[in-house]
Amino acid sequence: MSAGGDMSGNGRGPAPGEAVPDATAGSPARADGSGGLRAMGSGVSPGGQSVPPGQHGDLARLAPTRARIAARVVGRERELELILAAVAAGRDLLLEGPPGTSKSTLLRAITAEWGVPLVFVEGNADLTPAKLIGHHNPARVLREDYSAANFVDGPLLEAMREGGFLYIEEFNRAPEDTLNTLLTAMAEREVAVPRVGRIAARPTFRVIATMNPFDNVGTTRLSTSVHDRLCRLSVTYQDAESERGIVALRAPLPPGEVPADLVAVLVADAVAVTRATREHPDVRQGSSVRGAIDLTLVAGELLALRGISSAGGAGGLRAGDTARQAYADTVYDAMVVALSGRIQLDETAETTPEMVLRQIWEDHFVLTPAAAAPG
Ligand SMILES: Nc1ncnc2c1ncn2[C@@H]1O[C@H](COP(=O)(O)OP(=O)(O)OP(=O)(O)O)[C@@H](O)[C@H]1O
Ligand SMILES: [Mg+2]
Repeated sequence: MSAGGDMSGNGRGPAPGEAVPDATAGSPARADGSGGLRAMGSGVSPGGQSVPPGQHGDLARLAPTRARIAARVVGRERELELILAAVAAGRDLLLEGPPGTSKSTLLRAITAEWGVPLVFVEGNADLTPAKLIGHHNPARVLREDYSAANFVDGPLLEAMREGGFLYIEEFNRAPEDTLNTLLTAMAEREVAVPRVGRIAARPTFRVIATMNPFDNVGTTRLSTSVHDRLCRLSVTYQDAESERGIVALRAPLPPGEVPADLVAVLVADAVAVTRATREHPDVRQGSSVRGAIDLTLVAGELLALRGISSAGGAGGLRAGDTARQAYADTVYDAMVVALSGRIQLDETAETTPEMVLRQIWEDHFVLTPAAAAPG
């Protein structure tokens, strides 16, 4: 369970705790309950930072926010727009999608842009209502008896008090009574804590729940009453071109070590074989773009270590079968390291991750070498 800090550096907005240029982002709920939105007119503070929306209406102000976030995220224009519209409308949201499909990236960018905290909490069987809400410090209780002063906020209270987004990963792994606590907080926008009192949420408080639709171990089927209280957006893998863009962004290889034209070939190969893990008949869930990022980074180091990258870049690979074979073998070695732990085989499949990867490698580099040819 980690709070807030994870999002810094991702956006233009200040990190939580940092001074927010406009008072609205950090101010207590306004008497009119509007979060100051309408009063803010354009919705952009003098510092250029967007103002977080407290309630719906005035959507025009979202356009500049969307443009600024889009500049930091590869693709995902539609998802960004839909999420922005939902949270600006004051709604809580369920994001459904496999791992590595931009869910956290989008939410980090949005909360950073608005200068509101993003409070992460992992949904699992240990996430009791008490863990979500908080607890009295036992040592202080012994000395001073129960009081509001010795209460340690859990992530829910932290998000409510600070007007942050509570981001619950693997929502469907949380116990039912925890989900009920959350539903109450979502409906009432306040919680009552014994010996502390009622804690009201600031207008920008939102609940963002995520879950992996392929996940069926240790999960609860969410009841219709839970679904009925959340907006929902399903996200899937991005197309190959966007994934190449993400890998190029997240796996920069030092130009001194790997020539730029070889990097482009490597990124394309890494994305292609990673995507192939999602199509393989023996694989229940293949690797996300995280695998392609790691594959590119590991292969880049291996190519430099083995002196392959210095042999004339991608042009050198074209020149000789030996250089090309050495490159392809190196990509296979990196595939084993970067991808073998990331693919989940079908229970009935009589194979190993290494065998699956070998097949994918052969399909890509041996059977259809034209598709994989450099240049
Ligand atoms: N659209 C994107 N633009 C830029 N980087 C991205 C994009 N999508 C994913 N990434 C990168 O891919 C990695 C995984 O993305 P992210 O953490 O957003 O996935 P997620 O959907 O939150 O996954 P999980 O369900 O496992 O938490 C991160 O390193 C992120 O930087
Ligand atoms: Mg995530």
